Amino acid sequence: MKKRVFSGIKPTGDIHIGNYLGANRHWAAMQDDYDNIFCVVDLHAITEPQDPALLKGRIREFAGLLMAIGIDPERSILFVQSHVHEHSELAWILNCFIPMGWMYRMTQFKEKAEQQREQVSVGLFDYPSLMAADILLYRTDVVPVGEDQKQHVELTRDVAQRFNNIYGETFVLPEPLIPDVGARIMGLDDPTKKMSGSEEGAGHAINLLDSPDMIRSKIMKATTDSKRDILFDESRPGIFNLLSIYQTFTGEDNKQIESRFEGKGYSDFKKALAEVAIEGLRPLQERYKELTGEPGRIDSILAKGAEKARPLAEKMLAEVQKKVGLG
Ligand code: TYM
Repeated sequence: MKKRVFSGIKPTGDIHIGNYLGANRHWAAMQDDYDNIFCVVDLHAITEPQDPALLKGRIREFAGLLMAIGIDPERSILFVQSHVHEHSELAWILNCFIPMGWMYRMTQFKEKAEQQREQVSVGLFDYPSLMAADILLYRTDVVPVGEDQKQHVELTRDVAQRFNNIYGETFVLPEPLIPDVGARIMGLDDPTKKMSGSEEGAGHAINLLDSPDMIRSKIMKATTDSKRDILFDESRPGIFNLLSIYQTFTGEDNKQIESRFEGKGYSDFKKALAEVAIEGLRPLQERYKELTGEPGRIDSILAKGAEKARPLAEKMLAEVQKKVGLG
């Protein structure tokens, strides 16, 4: 029996190379080793204001991009969170087992709450409970994510353990799986901030569908420092981030990369990085074009994915409801 993998992506903004290098491409690469479920988490998207028409389009775009990256609907279940209503129902039950104090500790909530102040929704506060439901519904063993989601997976383990202590073995305790390189890609304009789809600045992120010219222009303008040497030095976040991006695209080790750029300037390195990123993204951009050329293809794959996910989710939710004494 293969171990179960579950992971999700939130259809807001654009998918950027942070998502891709930190998470999505690992999902694709791991497919043969695990029993996989991948989800476009639209209910998480509405924890912040969304334009309805844009959101609907993005859900399909994100699913199409995941397929273009290599998620194969024959080997993995790919579906949309709101198509399987058990996610919301389990999240409600879990709410009743998560102390407020655990939620207040979530750094992602604290950061967003600081930006949004009185606009913060209850949904945003409750985000980790829905994420725990996503993971626990499918008896997930492994959750491949970037560094920023680690705390949410730990909370998932904690609530699973708490429930199991009260009602007996019910949930599997999931483990986060975080890559050694690329787990935290930083913004190009500000390398002290995580690359994020919700940042407005044009030079912040490289998106997966960016044209070669856009990629070149964003990388050439990326913030570095006034030094010269091209070294993996964490105290120089701009160049360190660009080198990490180079490394995740090429798979080369630190020494190889440093010696390749010895004696060269930032501009030479940035030009080389732009070409590596353009070539790295080209195959998935071409596959995406093919996929979206066939009307209805993505919708039909998502419908089939939900049909496969639903029975698994129904079974788990029924077990939980019975243990709690509902109905
Ligand atoms: P989301 O949509 O923000 O990001 C999707 C995945 O991309 C990773 N990621 C990054 N990795 C490296 N560097 C970055 N700058 C970067 N930005 C994003 C994220 O860690 C994530 O793995 N809450 C989740 C979605 C979710 C989920 C789940 C994930 C909902 N339910 C259940 C796993 C299991 C999120 O918003 O990811």
